[in-house]
Amino acid sequence: MIAFRHFALRRGSRLLLSDIDLVIQSGWRLGVVGRNGCGKSSLFAALQGQLEADHGELDMPARLRLASVAQETPALPDPAIEYVMGGDVELAAALRDEFDAQARGDTEAMARAHHRIEELHGYDARARAGRLLHGLGFSPETHERAVCEFSGGWRVRLNLARALMAPSDLLLLDEPTNHLDLDAVLWLEEWLRRYQGTLLVISHDREFLDGVITHTLHLNEGRGKLYTGNYSSFELQRAEQLRLQQIAHEREQVERAHLQSFIDRFKAKASKAKQAQSRMKRLEKMAGTEAVRAERAFRFQFAVPDRVPDSMLQLEEIAAGYDAPLPLTSGEREHAGDGSVSERRTDTHHREVAPSSQPSARRGEGAIVILADVRFRLEAGERIGLLGPNGAGKSTMVKTLVGELPPLAGERKAHKDLKIGYFAQHTVESLREGASPFDHLQDKAPGVSAQVLRDFLGNWNFAGDRAFESVDGFSGGERARLALALIAWDKPNLLLLDEPTNHLDLDMREALADALADFDGALVLVSHDRHLLGMVCDSFWRVADGKVEPFDGDLDDYARWLRARSGAPKKTAETDAKPLESAADRRRAAAAQRENEKATRQRVKKIETRVAAIEVDLTALEQKLADPQTYNGPTAELMKLGQRQSELRKEKETLEAEWLELYELLEA
Ligand SMILES: Nc1ncnc2c1ncn2[C@@H]1O[C@H](COP(=O)(O)OP(=O)(O)OP(=O)(O)O)[C@@H](O)[C@H]1O
Ligand SMILES: [Mg+2]
Repeated sequence: MIAFRHFALRRGSRLLLSDIDLVIQSGWRLGVVGRNGCGKSSLFAALQGQLEADHGELDMPARLRLASVAQETPALPDPAIEYVMGGDVELAAALRDEFDAQARGDTEAMARAHHRIEELHGYDARARAGRLLHGLGFSPETHERAVCEFSGGWRVRLNLARALMAPSDLLLLDEPTNHLDLDAVLWLEEWLRRYQGTLLVISHDREFLDGVITHTLHLNEGRGKLYTGNYSSFELQRAEQLRLQQIAHEREQVERAHLQSFIDRFKAKASKAKQAQSRMKRLEKMAGTEAVRAERAFRFQFAVPDRVPDSMLQLEEIAAGYDAPLPLTSGEREHAGDGSVSERRTDTHHREVAPSSQPSARRGEGAIVILADVRFRLEAGERIGLLGPNGAGKSTMVKTLVGELPPLAGERKAHKDLKIGYFAQHTVESLREGASPFDHLQDKAPGVSAQVLRDFLGNWNFAGDRAFESVDGFSGGERARLALALIAWDKPNLLLLDEPTNHLDLDMREALADALADFDGALVLVSHDRHLLGMVCDSFWRVADGKVEPFDGDLDDYARWLRARSGAPKKTAETDAKPLESAADRRRAAAAQRENEKATRQRVKKIETRVAAIEVDLTALEQKLADPQTYNGPTAELMKLGQRQSELRKEKETLEAEWLELYELLEA
């Protein structure tokens, strides 16, 4: 149970939350919702003890095991799966103890550690970590890859897996779906529904919330209000409350007017003075039900571009990818062999290291082609959505369109009047610390009057003083909104947007969808927000298996394609709707599949060999333990045998579970 009593929270000079009085019961799955900047993440910081209450109290059980997602991932050489297992701190300590005890030859300490590990279900930890990775989209061959080899988005997933690995009574997740694709979101929903502890999850994704939560905490204008039920149910309840509040307010206004007019008319007349006085008292006592302040629907626009040329942008037989080698897996390193491939690693956010079986071919001096033979024309007014599984190369495609990433082969032709507005995650991250929205805009528009800049920022909801506050303290959504505003200032005629809705609250998403729908230029959009894609795009292209092609279908068709491709159709009714693919398509897909299978088969082999070895050892142990001679020897020796036996049995069990899982995968 977590209780807030008269709780208030301050950030800088702003009082974010005041007089919060509520109790969160154990076992609830609570969605924390509210506008960008209302204080959701700050509330989490308070729960984690990183932020002091400004007033009041926050009561939490003293021995609460709390898990949350780390913001940073150290560039570790450790295998991903071990990094994830490390999320269970107690288990990691017990395993270390066991190791140390073994090194010292301290059998008693070993027995203790052993017991502890069993208590913590340590012997199937690896299998559990593997399942988490699998669910979050890591293919089996990537589980042993070093943490430092993953790109930013995948490291976020690793941290999420680590948080889920930790046994916890309270789990805090702040916008966990931001870096996930649809498959992983669905998996996470399922996982969270089965979570036993208390869950607090911040999200702007209503479908996800509906699938997960039992209660909703709405933060609004500094107050927090609890609702029973999921997000949709919260919306209904709130709408009803607002309606009743408005009715009460209107009634009260009528009565007030009535009383007032009575008082006005009769207060001068001695005969009626008494009545007038009592009415005056009544008027004073009235509750003063507030009118529902229509929550200002936030709206903004992308200005009409000065010019929208035809044939804006062409990619002709382009090979898109990266010059310097991607960090290699050990397998790839062996193949590189000739020493031409350096292991220099550059700035990771410029590349996508896809843990899936990414069809990449090495070219020339170690260049990696992510997308081959790309032919793409963009005409004025076209509105294209890029679809594709995570890591397939959507961002690579966008960077190639922008010109940020020079083609490895082929040609990119841009019209001389082309003016690109480019939004990507790193745009948000590259805001200048210490500078305000006003500073940022002034950099772009040196000679422009302060008033014009302030008005512009006001339209983007940076009104008044906010325009002059440093972005250091801005929430994720506020930063994303500023980044979009800066792009809009340039009046682009082509918008290239790579996941623009991450961090944006629901109102802002709606506003963005409206603004994009009204935009007069051309548009290329990457997004996992199905609502936005549907509202904004006229046609879709699919980025998958090393190719970029027009996709003949809508989002439902795409979801079907995705399911068919993953090989584990989720709805049997739709399995017959396999998309038509060319022979080349099928060949390529089959090749990728074979690679995947190969890795899985190798692991299966490895397991089989190990299990066979364990069985031999176990038989030997059993014989020894059956031998009366053994019981005449020292007890320590006997204990060791027993321990060894139980260890081997556990290991065998774990391996067999993994084997079964992989085997099922191969069968599928
Ligand atoms: N270190 C800080 N110093 C000053 N102000 C801060 C600081 N951190 C956050 N703020 C401000 O506090 C407010 C709440 O921030 P918080 O990150 O809690 O919002 P949020 O509800 O999580 O928003 P979002 O939905 O965008 O993530 C924001 O207006 C933000 O600008
Ligand atoms: Mg936040």
